[in-house]
Amino acid sequence: MPTLTYDFHDRTVIVSGAAQGIGAELVRFFRAAGATVVAVDLDAAGLAAVCGSSGAVPVVGDVAAASTADAAVTAALEATGRVDILVNNAGILRDNVVWKITDDDWDLVLGVHAGGTFRLTRACVPSMRAQGAGRIVNVTSYTGLHGNVGQANYATAKAGIIGFTKTVAKEVARFGVTVNAISPNAATRMVEAIPEERRREIELMAPLARFGRADEMCAAVGFLASDEAAYITGVVLPVDGGLSI
Ligand SMILES: NC(=O)c1ccc[n+]([C@@H]2O[C@H](COP(=O)([O-])OP(=O)(O)OC[C@H]3O[C@@H](n4cnc5c(N)ncnc54)[C@H](O)[C@@H]3O)[C@@H](O)[C@H]2O)c1
Repeated sequence: MPTLTYDFHDRTVIVSGAAQGIGAELVRFFRAAGATVVAVDLDAAGLAAVCGSSGAVPVVGDVAAASTADAAVTAALEATGRVDILVNNAGILRDNVVWKITDDDWDLVLGVHAGGTFRLTRACVPSMRAQGAGRIVNVTSYTGLHGNVGQANYATAKAGIIGFTKTVAKEVARFGVTVNAISPNAATRMVEAIPEERRREIELMAPLARFGRADEMCAAVGFLASDEAAYITGVVLPVDGGLSI
């Protein structure tokens, strides 16, 4: 956990993909900084553990479904009457070379990443617009920026999130809402799924020659979600040890 320099006491935050990995660290980070946090995930048991220890409000559901986005916003409004910060972090992999990707795995990966980011954003913008302020931080990937063998579905979804970030940044700027993205590189379950040899190659591709820790993603998200970042919108901030240089 990085040293806390952020104060989100009066903020209500929605974090998707909150049951483990980067999302779970973000829940702990925002709670430690005083925020009310609504934590969204498919994994009910994992979410209960994270929320039990942090005091976040759990919403169990699939981000690909509009009903989950509505439930998350309802939970936030019931808790504080506000939605200040949205972090679209939920994600999955269904890797394969393009000629072997099934329709189901194509639709699933686009539905979770692009569809989930769209639906939660659509559900949150009306509150942010009414407040005249808001922060949306999306999670994209090196693969969305540069491509990666075996990840055509994921690359399409993550590149789509970059286009979405820039487009929505232009649409909501006039409401005092910023929309940015981070591109992480962190040793989580998602990375453990990569074969050992390839994992080592990726580590060495980054000048800092290691994967980040999930908690090392928090300061960047916290900054983009802070008042101090009011003049930054539509950017993709790599938090990746230089992987994308
Ligand atoms: N770890 C990395 O190096 C890395 C690199 C680039 C991008 N990312 C992105 O960072 C984000 C977080 O990844 P992570 O590494 O923490 O992975 P993770 O697998 O540890 O966590 C992902 C979380 O998302 C949840 N989730 C999956 N599908 C969902 C759905 N349909 N609805 C709700 N929740 C769902 C999972 O249950 C899990 O809790 C993802 O968007 C991922 O693509 C991670």
